[in-house]
Amino acid sequence: MPKVVVLPGDGIGPEVTAAAVEVLREVAPDVTLEEQAIGGGAYDAHGDPLPQRTRDAVQDADAVLLGTVGGAQGSPWNALPRHLRPESGLLALRKALGCYANLRPVRVQPGLEHLSPLKAELARGVDILIVRELLGGLYFDGDRRIEGSVAYNTMRYTTAEVERVAKVAFWAAEQRKGRVTSVDKANVLEVSELWRRDVQALRDREYRSIHLNHEYVDSVAMLIVSQPSRYDVIVTENLFGDILSDLAAVIPGSLGLMPSASLGDGPGLFEPIHGSAPDIAGQGVANPAAAIMSAAMLLRHGLKRSDAANQVDRAVALALREQPTRDLGGKADTKAFTHAVLSAMGSPAVG
Ligand code: NAD
Ligand code: IPM
Ligand code: MN
Repeated sequence: MPKVVVLPGDGIGPEVTAAAVEVLREVAPDVTLEEQAIGGGAYDAHGDPLPQRTRDAVQDADAVLLGTVGGAQGSPWNALPRHLRPESGLLALRKALGCYANLRPVRVQPGLEHLSPLKAELARGVDILIVRELLGGLYFDGDRRIEGSVAYNTMRYTTAEVERVAKVAFWAAEQRKGRVTSVDKANVLEVSELWRRDVQALRDREYRSIHLNHEYVDSVAMLIVSQPSRYDVIVTENLFGDILSDLAAVIPGSLGLMPSASLGDGPGLFEPIHGSAPDIAGQGVANPAAAIMSAAMLLRHGLKRSDAANQVDRAVALALREQPTRDLGGKADTKAFTHAVLSAMGSPAVG
C-alpha cells in the first residue's frame, strides 16, 4: 500500500490540505496517509521547523503532500535565527528529498477564461509549464552571511545542476509542444552565461527535436502576462522561477490555482505555490484548488495513477465553473468548493 506523508504546516496550509486529503481519500482509498509537522507550528511544538520525526517519515514515503509554512510579517517566527524559521524547514525538506526540479503548471481550462483578469483572447488556451530549479542558486550553499552593514548571498550553479533540471524541461517538452524557453540574465550574470551555454549544449547533444530559445528574465516578466501563448515549457533558476511563477498566477486568475510537483532523487513533494496567506487564515475561505491540483500531480507523478489524476483535474475545473471561491470573485468558501469538487468527481466527464 502506498504511503503519503501529509504536512499541513501553517496558516491556510491545514485548511487547504484538509480539502486535498478529502479528495485523495475519495479517489485513492487504499493509500495510507500519515500526518507530520513542519514549519512554525513544528518549531513551537518541537523546537525545529523540520523535526527528526518528519525527516524519518518522508524518507520511506511514496510521496509527500505539503500545505504551506510561514507567519505574517510581524510574526515572532521571523525574528528567530534563520535556520529555525518556518521557511528553512521547507527548504531543508526539499534538500533532504533531493527535489531539484519544481514543475509549476499554468493552465487556463476551456470555459474558465472569465476567471482571468486578462482579456479572454489572451487567456484562452494558455498552457505553460514552468520548470524551476529548486536546490541551487541564491537559496542554498555558497557564501551567505550578514556582517553589520554588509550582507552576502552567492548565486552559484554547476553544469551538473543545470543539466539535471534542463533534462526534466526537455523531457516535459517532448510530451508537450516541443518548445523550451530558457530564462536567464546572461547579459549581466556569469551564472547565467554558464546556464545558457550548458542548456544549449545539452539540447544540441541529446534533444535535437526540441526547439530551444533563450530570453532575459526581465523581458519574460512582461511577456508572460502580455503574450502568455508564446510559451510552452520555461526552465529557469531558483529565484527567477519563484518570482515568475507568482506573476504567472495572474493568468489563470489566482495563486489559489497554482499547484506544483517537486521531483528528483527521492519521493516527490507536492505543494501549492502560494504561501500561508495570514490575511485570510482561520476564516475558512482559502481557495483549496491549488492544493487539490497538487494532490492530482501527486497521483500522476508520485503514484503513477494518471486516471485518478485526470478525474481530480476535471472535477476541479467543473467546480471552478459552478462554485468559484472568493479570490476568483465568487462566493464559495473552502468547504463549499471542496464539496463541489467531490460531487463533480461522481459526474460524467464534461469538456
Ligand atoms: P501568500 O502567497 O501567502 O499570499 C499572497 C496573497 O495571496 C494574500 O493576499 C493571500 O490571501 C492570497 N492567497 C494566497 N493563497 C491563497 C489561496 N489559496 N486562496 C485565496 N487567497 C490566497 O504570500 P505572502 O503573504 O507573501 O506570504 C505569507 C507567508 O507565507 C510568509 O511567511 C511566506 O514566507 C510564506 N510562504 C510560504 C510558501 C510555502 O509554504 N510554499 C510560499 C510562499 C510564501
Ligand atoms: C515558494 C515559496 C518558498 C520559496 C519560500 C517559502 C521558501 O515562496 O514555494 O514559492 O521561495 O521557494
Ligand atoms: Mn514563492
